[in-house]
Amino acid sequence: MPPMLPATAPFADEHIAALNRVISVTTPEQRAWLSGYLAGIQAANDPGAAAPAAPPAKRAPLTILFGTESGNAESLAAQARKVAAKLGFAPKVIDMADFTPAQAAATENLLIVASTWGEGDPPQRAVDFYEALMADDAPRFEKTRFAVLALGDRAYAQFCEIGRKIDERLAALGGARITDRIDCDLDFETPASGWIDSTLERLNAEVGVKDASASVIHVDFARPGAEAPTRARPFEAEVTEHVRLTGSRSTSDTHHVAVSLEGSGIAYEPGDSLGVVPSNDPALVNAVLQAAGLSGNDTLLGALTDRLDITTLTGKQIEDFARETGIQAPPIDWAAGRQIIDLLELAPGRLSAEQLTALLRPLPPRYYSIASSRKAVGEEAHLLVAGLRYTSHGRARTGVASLDITARHREGDKLKVFLRPNPHFRLPGDNDRPIIMVGPGTGVAPFRGFLQEREAAGAGGRNWLVFGHRNYTHDFLYQLELQDWLKSSLLTRLDVAFSRDQPEKRYVQNTLWESRSDLYAWLKDGAALYVCGDANAMAKDVHTTLLRIIADQGRRDEAGAKAELDSIRRDGRYLRDVY
Ligand SMILES: Cc1cc2nc3c(=O)[nH]c(=O)nc-3n(C[C@H](O)[C@H](O)[C@H](O)COP(=O)(O)OP(=O)(O)OC[C@H]3O[C@@H](n4cnc5c(N)ncnc54)[C@H](O)[C@@H]3O)c2cc1C
Ligand SMILES: Cc1cc2nc3c(=O)[nH]c(=O)nc-3n(C[C@H](O)[C@H](O)[C@H](O)COP(=O)(O)O)c2cc1C
Repeated sequence: MPPMLPATAPFADEHIAALNRVISVTTPEQRAWLSGYLAGIQAANDPGAAAPAAPPAKRAPLTILFGTESGNAESLAAQARKVAAKLGFAPKVIDMADFTPAQAAATENLLIVASTWGEGDPPQRAVDFYEALMADDAPRFEKTRFAVLALGDRAYAQFCEIGRKIDERLAALGGARITDRIDCDLDFETPASGWIDSTLERLNAEVGVKDASASVIHVDFARPGAEAPTRARPFEAEVTEHVRLTGSRSTSDTHHVAVSLEGSGIAYEPGDSLGVVPSNDPALVNAVLQAAGLSGNDTLLGALTDRLDITTLTGKQIEDFARETGIQAPPIDWAAGRQIIDLLELAPGRLSAEQLTALLRPLPPRYYSIASSRKAVGEEAHLLVAGLRYTSHGRARTGVASLDITARHREGDKLKVFLRPNPHFRLPGDNDRPIIMVGPGTGVAPFRGFLQEREAAGAGGRNWLVFGHRNYTHDFLYQLELQDWLKSSLLTRLDVAFSRDQPEKRYVQNTLWESRSDLYAWLKDGAALYVCGDANAMAKDVHTTLLRIIADQGRRDEAGAKAELDSIRRDGRYLRDVY
């Protein structure tokens, strides 16, 4: 049996698994060649980097548990693992989806990174862990030292709710806090990094190896300049194609946008998203400067255009503004549907440039599902972007990134992008497994990537797409391609629901219900079911409909249907990417 990499090796879990798969089929000669080759390259590039280490001293175990929907908590967990490994811990990063509270209670040192979704809900793959932790029969954590890093967005009423509840629960169950919890807003990088460093240093002072350098082989294989683009250092991708897909009489404004990733080093998989670093609408920037009485300040104009969030309005900003200007703060629910401009207009011209800058949050990136497969389009990524326009409190408003992409970028312009991998929303490894894709509106985007990938791979599995929008004539996104795929039998089945084509509203969940016997049969055949698109209404209604279908077709009561859907989800066959 060839040697395998241990779980503590300084790689992501999926990389350890991938390396072990390769190692498992190597001969001793191949392994000797590989280790000599890598060591030789490393020594030639940086002779000091890979000095042989002394035999390891006993390293303190550290479990880093993350609960994530869109990957931020996972990347912070990976960052914490690196810091911990440097300090001499034996760190292990684990997804809440693969862990139970009983296993967590058996750990000595536990770092938790958890985000909040929906309206104060746990990320979907963390639901089982979270519910079991909150249950009456949850285990005691008396053996465990812990600390919680909570991720959230201050624009939501239940800010960092899940991190807060986990932190309180662990303390109530007898766990000892290493340090106080930190609640991070969307600009989490700097505060989270500082917290990770100080928390692990504190833990190290209590339980760690005293001379970490004597026990840890620290080899950094990254070559300078070879790093992938990040939100702080995005890639400037040229827009190579820009087509409005919805008809001129549509009530929505959805565009197909192709960008070139040539030279970016971005190697995406279908299911991943691209992060887009947007600029604000110049007209709104001017209106904000005017309301603040700061027009003509060019430095501020630059910051408001590219760096600061001038649309979201949080309760904290209302409090800060009231304090700075001496006005009576409006009640917290006043913020709903309003933006910074509405706040500034309550007391125009009362802030200095410094006060305005301090009031505003950094401008966060937005994410767009990649609607292509590299196997089909090479070094391009395709996006499907719906321009957001609405009116609230009498003012016409637009979405920052969606309008920046659809209205202010043309072919030849550059869009700042970086990759957001989504390893939990992937095609099945088995090309013969059937898949059901529920993707109304822009939710169809990743499924176009899935279908391109399956076509290029010659995958034999059946593919069923359920698409929905408002109107057949104006809103059938990628209609010709989908119909061609139906003709070529890549799509085994295409069901559509257009809500406004008949007097009564019709949605994807109605289609699913009507097809319930086929849908259940596909699930029984091992199909993986994917849902992408609107989180607030669609994903919830589809979920409820799936429970009804299982109850009806499997002749189960409510609890039995829930148990069956939970088991499909645990099998990795019910996957959602909803926003
Ligand atoms: C993983 C992921 C994948 C995604 N994929 C796609 C995709 O493929 N295609 C796509 O188009 N989008 C996608 N999105 C959504 C996308 O990231 C943006 O959220 C969306 O484009 C809006 O961003 P914006 O900057 O234009 O709007 P923002 O400036 O962020 O404005 C949005 C805000 O406007 C407010 N608002 C919106 N409508 C109203 C209303 N009627 N009344 C009052 N207030 C309102 C709400 O506060 C809302 O949060 C995805 C999101 C995620 C997380
Ligand atoms: C649809 C949606 C709902 C969200 N709901 C909340 C919420 O209720 N409370 C909160 O603090 N943050 C909320 N957030 C913000 C996320 O917690 C935040 O983006 C976090 O960084 C995501 O981390 P993750 O990538 O690890 O899941 C929400 C974000 C989205 C897109």
